[in-house]
Amino acid sequence: MELRVTNTPRLEWTGDALAVGLFEDQVELTDDLAALDEKLAGTLKELITETEFKGKEGSSAATRVGGGSSIRKIILVGLGKPDGLKLETLRRAGAASAKAAKKEKCKTLGIGLPLWNGDAAATAQAIAEGVELALYQDTRFKSDPEEKQGPQVEQVELLGLGGQEAAITRARQICSGVILARELVAAPANIVTPITLAETASAIAQEYGLELEILEREDCEKLGMGAYLGVAQASDLPPKFIHLTYKPEGTPRRKLAIIGKGLTFDSGGLNIKVSGSGIEMMKTDMGGAGATLGAAKAIAQLKPDVEVHFISAATENMISGHAMHPGDILTASNGKTIEINNTDAEGRLTLADALVFAEKLGVDAIVDLATLTGACVIALGDNIAGLWSPSDEIADQLLKASESAGEKLWRMPMEETYFEGMKSVVADMKNTGPRPGGAITAALFLKQFVKETPWAHLDIAGPVWVDKENGYNNPGATGFGVRTLVSWVLS
Ligand code: BES
Ligand code: MN
Ligand code: ZN
Repeated sequence: MELRVTNTPRLEWTGDALAVGLFEDQVELTDDLAALDEKLAGTLKELITETEFKGKEGSSAATRVGGGSSIRKIILVGLGKPDGLKLETLRRAGAASAKAAKKEKCKTLGIGLPLWNGDAAATAQAIAEGVELALYQDTRFKSDPEEKQGPQVEQVELLGLGGQEAAITRARQICSGVILARELVAAPANIVTPITLAETASAIAQEYGLELEILEREDCEKLGMGAYLGVAQASDLPPKFIHLTYKPEGTPRRKLAIIGKGLTFDSGGLNIKVSGSGIEMMKTDMGGAGATLGAAKAIAQLKPDVEVHFISAATENMISGHAMHPGDILTASNGKTIEINNTDAEGRLTLADALVFAEKLGVDAIVDLATLTGACVIALGDNIAGLWSPSDEIADQLLKASESAGEKLWRMPMEETYFEGMKSVVADMKNTGPRPGGAITAALFLKQFVKETPWAHLDIAGPVWVDKENGYNNPGATGFGVRTLVSWVLS
């Protein structure tokens, strides 16, 4: 799909489908929409009346335009209340326009939407992201993708945004990262293994000239990563500790580390997941690693003046004669001992050693992303990730980044008194506490492995996947986290 910007006015644009935005309860058409309606012989007004179009955010309607017109279809997209227009509304409007055009079998689409905050660059980027992400369909595992997909939108023009080519390029670079994350997460555990994740990191390193270090099991043993290796020990596949580094030319403004939980499958281990626990969805348990590699791909193209370390302690959590026993005591690379009272709380064990590794790099801040707990999904639902951080500064940076990226985060409490529930008789700590506050105790566990570097933890167990179409997310993996990470690194 080709994506362009142009200054052609809506009235003069020619092509298959023209999408225009309408604010909520905007009964009187604005001057230029009235002129357009006149040109379309009243089709716009008819469409509004016939579909009782109210301009509600996320709504859309489309109809044919009479013969002899320079456009075939007109698409209306709702923009919600006119005051306080959000960037995310435009992202979703771009998505709604693209989806409507596809449904109407239109090859060329013109999108004419209002500016956000008078900022043409941000507007163009958001609409382009919405279009690109909405039109992405994963047909890798379909035997006849052509037939199942139908005709495609081939060319999209953003009207009134001429000169914003750089914003379109930025959007496409970011979306390439989101799509990589989606593809990694959606692929099953027999396709995406720790080896695949390492190969993906290697492909990014080669294509964009990043540094890559892969620590094999023996390397991790030497570093004393007993927590990570305890999780990895039952798998027939080798663990791969991935460390990909982007370094800008010149002195970096700051140095950051991003860590993603990389469980390519989580069976639960000997505390095996029972049926009904969603075990078949545990291919998504590398959603953090997917977002990390997706962000790496985007950042490698965007080239900010920031050094970024992308890290994942990738493995599977399996069962075999080599498996950890419940009750085992593991020693992490910072010397802390952990009594495993539940082998299904494996993500935090892999993250523990990754956090210790990241801190040793001497970075200014660390953010980890993990499909860590079902408890976080219970607390915040499917569309919001939990954010924990002892640092108000990092927390605020991430909340701001997520707002502009259109990915929802909610800050949760780092309630230290709950660590009481993680006390072990025999070791420094257990790996799980009581059921109440399970997402909080998971965050408190991670905190034991960070000494002084400002750090934040994102629990993305909910938003990593959607079952139903939602804006620019089609059913499947969302690539959640990539846009927030990119926006954070660039800030
Ligand atoms: N990968 C799961 C968390 C998860 C659950 C992600 C549902 C996505 C959807 C994690 O490893 C896990 O099993 N967590 C346990 C922790 C418990 C044993 C303390 C959980 O949430 O049940
Ligand atoms: Mn688990
Ligand atoms: Zn897990």
